[in-house]
Amino acid sequence: MCGIVGYTGRPGAAAAIGHSALDVVMEGLRRLEYRGYDSAGVAVLTGSGMESRKKSGKLANLVAELEAAPLPEATTGIGHTRWATHGGPTDGNAHPHLADGDRLAVIHNGIIENFAELKEELLAAGVEFRSETDTEVAAALLGRIYASTGGQDLARSMQLACQRLEGAFTLLAVHADSPDTVVAARRNSPLVVGLGDGENFLGSDVSGFIDFTRRAVELGQDQIVTITPETVEITDFHGRPAEGTEFEVNWDAAAAEKGGYDSFMEKEINDQPQAVADTLLGRFDADGRLTLDELRVSPEALKSINKIMVLACGTSAYAGQVAKYAIEHWCRIPVEVELSHEFRYRDPIVDSNTLIVAISQSGETMDTLMAVRYAKEQGAKILAICNTNGSTIPREADAVLYTHAGPEIAVASTKAFLAQITATYLLGLYLAQVRGNKFQGEIRDILADLAKVPAKIQQVLDSAGSIKELGQLMAGTSSVLFLGRHVGFPVAMEGALKLKELAYIHAEGFAAGELKHGPIALIEEGQPVFVVVPSPRGRDSLHAKVVSNIQEIRARGAKTIVIAEEGDDAVKAYAEHVFYVPETPTLLAPLLTTVPLQIFACALATAKGFDVDQPRNLAKSVTVE
Ligand code: F6R
Repeated sequence: MCGIVGYTGRPGAAAAIGHSALDVVMEGLRRLEYRGYDSAGVAVLTGSGMESRKKSGKLANLVAELEAAPLPEATTGIGHTRWATHGGPTDGNAHPHLADGDRLAVIHNGIIENFAELKEELLAAGVEFRSETDTEVAAALLGRIYASTGGQDLARSMQLACQRLEGAFTLLAVHADSPDTVVAARRNSPLVVGLGDGENFLGSDVSGFIDFTRRAVELGQDQIVTITPETVEITDFHGRPAEGTEFEVNWDAAAAEKGGYDSFMEKEINDQPQAVADTLLGRFDADGRLTLDELRVSPEALKSINKIMVLACGTSAYAGQVAKYAIEHWCRIPVEVELSHEFRYRDPIVDSNTLIVAISQSGETMDTLMAVRYAKEQGAKILAICNTNGSTIPREADAVLYTHAGPEIAVASTKAFLAQITATYLLGLYLAQVRGNKFQGEIRDILADLAKVPAKIQQVLDSAGSIKELGQLMAGTSSVLFLGRHVGFPVAMEGALKLKELAYIHAEGFAAGELKHGPIALIEEGQPVFVVVPSPRGRDSLHAKVVSNIQEIRARGAKTIVIAEEGDDAVKAYAEHVFYVPETPTLLAPLLTTVPLQIFACALATAKGFDVDQPRNLAKSVTVE
């Protein structure tokens, strides 16, 4: 939540890449806007002082403000795009917040938990506040420390300020006294450094500077970094020197553009064959066996696991629920799936034989990070499934399996979900391979089937015209239900979540078997219900049971929209609309059946005129608990 950018360059460095320092900051904010879009602001150091502009609403409002009141030329600047926590989304609460006679500007991501106590102390000392934010308290504290230590050293003042702050924060500060310096601090909140030639960058993630450099440095917990055009200096909160880890960003700026689509969401839905193919890539040896060396966990350690617990939130938790069906079947290890924010508050039973699988697209979700830390304290091994290099959760995990979905810019997750499911399949199949269980033949077949999935997703995309049309036609709908069984159940819940997020209409996902235990009371004449039907080739007559469920709701007036496997003619008689997906083994089916539901939600929300990339009240990376 909240996007943060910092830049400092030698005079002319930004111009050499065709930009001013302010352009670099604004470009970073444009790319980070998905992290929050309640307000935005910038501050620049001009050599003769510090100037700032800020505006509530989307970044476009700040652009208009900068046109109306341009900032002078500068070589150093910071910028912020906000997801409001303390104080509503007003101009006054927008960042930067100023202190030390308006010569110091501070931007912040996170929540300062002891802000009320600090504010009282500062008020008693005569400080006046202009906003309701916790950030202004941090700015005032930093300003007072800086002034009281003789205004010599902004980095040292930041260290002293951080020693007093509790909670989660990334802070960036610039002061008119040091026109070529940005000082930043991080605790439990994301920050990466970008390395340039005669210029350096800071960003909440690498998209904040991807247009200008691919060389990045990840920072550790409780660190302070000071950048000038020529130097990057890292310390802990007590001034002891510290090291960051340099890495190369493996995607380019074009991957974070719309590429001819009307929205990032549409593009990302269409990226899915590639996202799944890239996540599978390089993970097989010449004999077709899985090689996940990058996991950094020995086969012996994997053999000792007697329980897996998936921790995640939202869409990522639904990926975990799909994984439960697959991993339990292939590995015969019990798998529990828990929302991260519930996990650590209920005295969970985990020990050194428990493998925690933390699934997070961003790698920064605070609920999941805190759950991971708690599980680690209990002695569990942590494996992160993550899409974002350099982020906190993989860094704190014992092992990492990266998804290779590329940057996901639309706030609601699509391609990351499919890539996460793919990664959990790889994990389950690898565990089964390492543990040498009796399903080795089946595992070989599944691996072959998995390799065919990207082409099948492409087939679903190629035949998406009718589901898109249905989405447009149903723009006036006020409630949609989604039913599924087995792996179709998490798919149904994900379908409902996409519709809630994008189209702001009531949507619920149910296990189809649960209908008769209550939800069937919701069915009335004309109620649209999506049903994710399992393959007729599947086990335990599940198909027949779902077909019965469809009949039960049809009999009560529901308008049924069915997602079924090609060749399943039996469902036609009971469905108003049928969308077929190619044949695939049941456990892999979510990689196909999810896609029409994403397309439907996106088309319906677009028809209602909503911004599908930046739905109201949401932010991409939820870095507060
Ligand atoms: C829904 C969505 C969210 C995220 C959730 C977890 O479309 O995007 O529900 O899945 O906030 O985020 P990550 O995966 O970054 O931990």
